[in-house]
Amino acid sequence: MDPSESDGRPRKINKPNYSKFTQQELPACRPVLTPRTVITVFSLISIIFVAIGIASLIVSQEVVEVVGRYDTSCAPMVDKIRFIQNSTSNKRCTITLKAHKYMKSPIFLYYQIGNFYQNHRSYASSQNDRQLMYKNAHLKKECNPETHTTDGAPIVPCGLVAWSLFNDTFTVDVNGETTEVNKHDIAWASDKNNKFGDDIYPSNFQKGKLIGGATLNESVPLSEQEDLIVWMRTAAFPTFRKLYGRIEKDIMANATITVFIQNNYNTYSFGGSKAVVLSTTSWIGGKNNFIGIAYLSVGCLCLFLALGFTVLYMVKPRSK
Ligand SMILES: *[C@@H]1O[C@H](CO)[C@@H](O)[C@H](O)[C@H]1NC(C)=O
Ligand SMILES: *[C@@H]1O[C@H](CO)[C@@H](O)[C@H](O)[C@H]1NC(C)=O
Ligand SMILES: *[C@@H]1O[C@H](CO)[C@@H](O)[C@H](O)[C@H]1NC(C)=O
Repeated sequence: MDPSESDGRPRKINKPNYSKFTQQELPACRPVLTPRTVITVFSLISIIFVAIGIASLIVSQEVVEVVGRYDTSCAPMVDKIRFIQNSTSNKRCTITLKAHKYMKSPIFLYYQIGNFYQNHRSYASSQNDRQLMYKNAHLKKECNPETHTTDGAPIVPCGLVAWSLFNDTFTVDVNGETTEVNKHDIAWASDKNNKFGDDIYPSNFQKGKLIGGATLNESVPLSEQEDLIVWMRTAAFPTFRKLYGRIEKDIMANATITVFIQNNYNTYSFGGSKAVVLSTTSWIGGKNNFIGIAYLSVGCLCLFLALGFTVLYMVKPRSK
């Protein structure tokens, strides 16, 4: 039974104070979707997107990129694995590339590795973020099997990602003239400042039986080991590029670019490829047609809709 009826007095109700919000009287925007506004909006969007798309494609075409694969030419035809694992074999190698267009500095020098799954879960998680930033981090199993040396000393940096650090090196000649490759500031500043400590030094690194890749200078803190920082930002795809350095000098069209390679890194065991890439940049980054195509697709879709609505509206106007 309703309590208000029991004693004849009205029940006290928990009523909110009056406000425009509680009474749902706030001003509101209620656009009227007439055919004319819909067609105008779609046309405007399509013009903007098509313009950005075409601009991105043009800019992307202007990026000059020179790619030279070297893993096959820098190893003998047979016994590639024996060759790369032999510490006394001569790993020096030269490849010659041609700048097919004028290349404006800064020119980025990348190495590109194929068929290397840096995104594999057990590989990508084989590192310890606390250890890279803070002293005396407690190591659990995450870095196995690269956690401790056989006599129990912790490995810094631990884990398979660091252990497999790329160790080929490159120097560049342009038209027979040695050209400096600047290796400063190749890593993200946010990684250097927030993920790798400036008082953490490598220790016991690559001291085990099996060498996975490059060694690190023990007197340089991790925050300055830029090749390591670049390598440890693991790639999402099995073919990836990582920045090696920057050439801060323009390269003329038709110039001969000679890259001297120390071919150390073993991609032969897992059928991976290696290439060196020189690329100029633009405001969309390197050579990348995807952005342009994506914008163009959306722009064309909107244009199509605008045209469709126009035809519908003209052929069959809604009766008033
Ligand atoms: C390693 O390379 C050296 C020099 O090329 C060669 O003499 C030696 O036989 C190689 N060792 C093996 C195990 O292939
Ligand atoms: C380079 O890395 C390979 C493994 O990919 C290793 O066997 C080799 O000893 C390393 N060489 C140098 C000079 O660091
Ligand atoms: C580059 O070489 C091509 C063909 O060999 C020639 O047509 C072109 O004029 C050259 N460009 C420059 C800037 O030398």
